[in-house]
Amino acid sequence: MSEHKELYDRVFDLIEKHDDWMHNTINLIASENVSSPAVRSAIVCDFRDRYAEGWPGERVYAGCKYIDEVELICIDLAKKLFRAEFADVRPVSGVVANLMMYTAFMKPGDRMMALSIAHGGHISHARGNLGGTAGAVRGHKVQNWVFDEQEFNIDVDASAKKIRGLFQDGKDVKFLLFGGSVFLFPHPVKEFRKIADEYGMHIGYDSAHVSGLIAAGRFQDPLREGADVMTASTHKTMPGPQHGVVLSKEEFADAIKRAAFPGLMSNHHLHNVAGLAVALAEMIEFGHDYTDQIIKNARALGQALHERGWNVIAEQKGFTASHQILVDISETPMKDGRTVEEELEKANIVINRNLLPWDKKRGRDYKTPGGIRLGTSEMTRLGMKESEMDAIAEFMTRVVMKGEDVRKVAEDVAEFRKDFQHVHYAFDTDTPAYAHLRFK
Ligand SMILES: Cc1ncc(COP(=O)(O)O)c(C=O)c1O
Repeated sequence: MSEHKELYDRVFDLIEKHDDWMHNTINLIASENVSSPAVRSAIVCDFRDRYAEGWPGERVYAGCKYIDEVELICIDLAKKLFRAEFADVRPVSGVVANLMMYTAFMKPGDRMMALSIAHGGHISHARGNLGGTAGAVRGHKVQNWVFDEQEFNIDVDASAKKIRGLFQDGKDVKFLLFGGSVFLFPHPVKEFRKIADEYGMHIGYDSAHVSGLIAAGRFQDPLREGADVMTASTHKTMPGPQHGVVLSKEEFADAIKRAAFPGLMSNHHLHNVAGLAVALAEMIEFGHDYTDQIIKNARALGQALHERGWNVIAEQKGFTASHQILVDISETPMKDGRTVEEELEKANIVINRNLLPWDKKRGRDYKTPGGIRLGTSEMTRLGMKESEMDAIAEFMTRVVMKGEDVRKVAEDVAEFRKDFQHVHYAFDTDTPAYAHLRFK
């Protein structure tokens, strides 16, 4: 057999191994989810090999009559689900959605406010010296929100004072960006609408993590609280394909459309537009129950870990109002997030290490941070409820606090997972959750 055929076969082997592993694993990565069988069958359609530059009905490519209709359905469903006047479903990811937002609302070099990475901001919001998309790609000058580490949220008064001070120093701010990757509690959007109007600033909200919760009315409602534009990934709490969306008031539609094409994309991954349309329909039908349970599960997981001696952040506020919890693991026997991440993975529990606001002062960085971030979207989708969160906390405690043999815990996790093999909150709940189509 040729070396290339061996590698070709190896790829299929590895895909198979990964799928098997996912069947046996507790996945608590807050930015991930498992899409429904219906979404997965949509994203393997022929659209994946086609082009459709531009807006439906005004394409630069021929052959789009069915693709156009699907994209228009997707736009309508997105507008309905997010109660938005305008939706552009072309961004191929959350970062590209953010780039569309920056392009539509700011000139290169304009100044903006965003959360720092240590306080939960995403790299696409960050400064140029960090290689962040806003700074390095668009040249934006990024000032950070003042953060209240007790409340685990933006400090409204101190941040407003900072913005006024910047204007007094001649450093005009053009854009206020809310949202982040560590996102426990709703951000103070409405508190900043007045000051935005006073100084002629626009407000953006990156809902990559919480878009599913927002869609179902379970977190906050940025477009009604004063945001001019909201971006999202469609595959975190919103259980769609890996894609993005930009939502806004109608008055910004033209600028956003131009940012998508000809600005940022030629091909916009049409198969994922089809998958997104299916996911949006599922969320309109099942999203309330699904997101309700996600949040209950996140709080239950926080409580169960807290009761077992873990230092879960924001205990005084019920740990979280979203799908995530953040845990300071610096006092556990394993001490740093990287070790915890590696040991739990050996036990079939997949989590993220995470920087904590005070890590830098303690000489830590993102490689060996003092925290971990856990999310409940995927396990909730498989039908888990509060009692399963208690079981998960116990598995984690056996590995991290009690130092039990990870192979034994991995076996127990696989056994536990046997009862959770189907996606819930979807039209088709019969096909196994991680099954994939194989033509070869
Ligand atoms: C707040 C935030 N924005 C944007 C993104 C990027 O999304 P994507 O991976 O879809 O580009 C993420 C990813 O986790 C995120 O947390």
